[in-house]
Amino acid sequence: MRLRKLVSYGIFVLFLVIGCGLTAVARGYEIPPTTGQTAFAQQTSDLMLNTLFAALTQEFNETTPDNVEQGKHSISLIFNDKNKDMRLVGTFGPLREKDRPSDNFERQANALALVGQTYTSVQRVDNQWYYRRSIPLSNFRAECALCHANYPAGPSSDWVGALMLRVPIKK
Ligand code: HEC
Repeated sequence: MRLRKLVSYGIFVLFLVIGCGLTAVARGYEIPPTTGQTAFAQQTSDLMLNTLFAALTQEFNETTPDNVEQGKHSISLIFNDKNKDMRLVGTFGPLREKDRPSDNFERQANALALVGQTYTSVQRVDNQWYYRRSIPLSNFRAECALCHANYPAGPSSDWVGALMLRVPIKK
């Protein structure tokens, strides 16, 4: 009898410990990152933006009427759909469904991009905190319209969409 009581007590304590542990883990997800952690992610996004901008500039420099399809293929591979940390987003057709804003952040960011404004936010997506930012894109090169037949002949100052970056914040 004493043994049974002891075992029941043991099981009770075990559940208590597991319960507390799970609550602590859940709290850990909820606590927003510190200013320092966010600053680290922001600086990472600055480096990432410079790298991407250099890569896109290189691609635009090489775009001619003869290699438009190859150039499109190349850009599609760089902006691989599986990579949610860097996305080109717009709302001007013709475009593929997945290039439209995909959540609240992207909808708001795209609306602001169309009037030339950046947007940033620190938010949790699927239990991971992210530093998110958007960089508005204008039709600033003649080559844009070679691939995007729906854009006006450039260069022009028309805002057409945004580059969306998302950096996981290390805690
Ligand atoms: C060599 C072809 C090419 C050139 C040049 C090019 N783009 Fe794109 N662009 C693409 C492709 C391909 C995608 C789709 C990427 C993907 O798969 O997510 C895209 C997507 C976009 C998007 C998001 C989706 C959409 O269609 O609205 C925007 C905004 C955009 N590009 C803006 C620009 C701007 C601004 C320029 C000029 C400064 C430019 N692009 C030049 C090929 C090109």
